[in-house]
Amino acid sequence: MSDINQDIIDKHTKVCICKAINKSTMKKTIAGGADTLEKVQKATGAGSGSCGGRRCTPRIIELLEEFHNQKEE
Ligand code: FES
Repeated sequence: MSDINQDIIDKHTKVCICKAINKSTMKKTIAGGADTLEKVQKATGAGSGSCGGRRCTPRIIELLEEFHNQKEE
């Protein structure tokens, strides 16, 4: 899949449902230097919704792992 198509899908995929933060925003935040869970949460506000991060935290950790794995390749 092209990067453009992937980005369109990512924009429609919510990572943090409480704060309505999509996957595209998360990926850009991570690529912009927020390379830990705490930094991503601080930069985006994810994890501060009504679920207290129960739903989005595992997904953010997955995205961070993907990012770190890609960097190592
Ligand atoms: S889904 Fe992110 S705080 Fe609830």
